[in-house]
Amino acid sequence: MLDGKSILITGGTGSFGKRFTRRILEKYNPKKIVIFSRDEYKQFVMHQSLAEIDVDKKVRYFIGDVRDKDRMYRACYGIDYIVHAAALKQVPACEYNPFEAVKTNIHGAQNVVDAAIENGVDKVVALSTDKAVNPINLYGATKLASDKLFVSANAYAGGKKTTFSVVRYGNVAGSRGSVIPFFHKLLADGKTELPITDNRMTRFWITLDEAVDLVFKALEESKGGETYISKIPSFRITDLAAAMNPAGSTKEIGIREGEKLHEVMVTQYDSLLTYEYDAHYIIYPNFEWWNRDAHFTDGGTRVQEFFEYSSDNNVQWINVDDMRKRIEEIEIVY
Ligand SMILES: NC(=O)c1ccc[n+]([C@@H]2O[C@H](COP(=O)([O-])OP(=O)(O)OC[C@H]3O[C@@H](n4cnc5c(N)ncnc54)[C@H](OP(=O)(O)O)[C@@H]3O)[C@@H](O)[C@H]2O)c1
Repeated sequence: MLDGKSILITGGTGSFGKRFTRRILEKYNPKKIVIFSRDEYKQFVMHQSLAEIDVDKKVRYFIGDVRDKDRMYRACYGIDYIVHAAALKQVPACEYNPFEAVKTNIHGAQNVVDAAIENGVDKVVALSTDKAVNPINLYGATKLASDKLFVSANAYAGGKKTTFSVVRYGNVAGSRGSVIPFFHKLLADGKTELPITDNRMTRFWITLDEAVDLVFKALEESKGGETYISKIPSFRITDLAAAMNPAGSTKEIGIREGEKLHEVMVTQYDSLLTYEYDAHYIIYPNFEWWNRDAHFTDGGTRVQEFFEYSSDNNVQWINVDDMRKRIEEIEIVY
């Protein structure tokens, strides 16, 4: 699918972008991969880390800011596929610098849309987050606006061929700032009691490779307007603590502002337009322009009315033993 293609990854030096680039190089023979981001040092480090695998120098490093429309247009010249991963994504930073989050996550998204259409890019896949679903913080709200810009962009691409879709996933297991590195550090420091904000809390479990797989799927089959969501297992936060700290204890400290008890990926209100496939769900858009025959992917079954896909009502669960094995297999990033 990506053989001979030119792929642009905004935010290519981030966690997702680095793994995605490596996976493309392992699986395909692209014409080029353009890494678009601001910080030259992160690009330098990525360049060094890919030296062994990028023998034909297919990966190009392009300094730019998604807020800069001209630069975005330039970067999209000759590009077949864009994966839009650049974002401001730390919840407290977005709360404290709200308009900065708006500029990167919303204005930046619109620049990607415009540059893709003007340059005749084939497909754009934008990354979204569970925090964009029923958002309770500005990060989530900006990502919700971004998702809407990408879905609607299919309407105003007009006669142009560019299609836009969204891939939504939740916190990656073991990623920086998430609960596993937090517990890991406390235990490494000799603590025997782990703080839990609320014992009822549940979360989905997704690895970076599973997120990358879903983006490959969207690049391969999307026809425009879809929001892709993986079917993944859930876990109880208390089971995670038991797996990481079997001989120790936990202390409930109270839910934090901006924290949700459960992660929601598909709301009841999306249910009328949500279809279930073997390994994922797709939410289709609710627009007059959306032509079912042209944009629907076969093989799906519509979910029941008022179906909700959230981490507490999942059918797949990870128990304590399974959790222990999974933690050994993931990268824990501090
Ligand atoms: N990590 C998660 O658990 C998670 C979960 C769900 C969804 N997501 C979504 O997945 C995407 C990628 O996340 P990630 O974990 O890879 O993030 P990350 O590790 O923080 O990387 C963010 C990337 O975006 C770049 N960037 C930030 N602002 C930019 C700007 N204004 N212009 C151009 N590049 C910019 C950063 O490089 P520079 O700073 O050098 O510009 C970096 O390459 C995001 O859209 C995020 O919302 C992540």
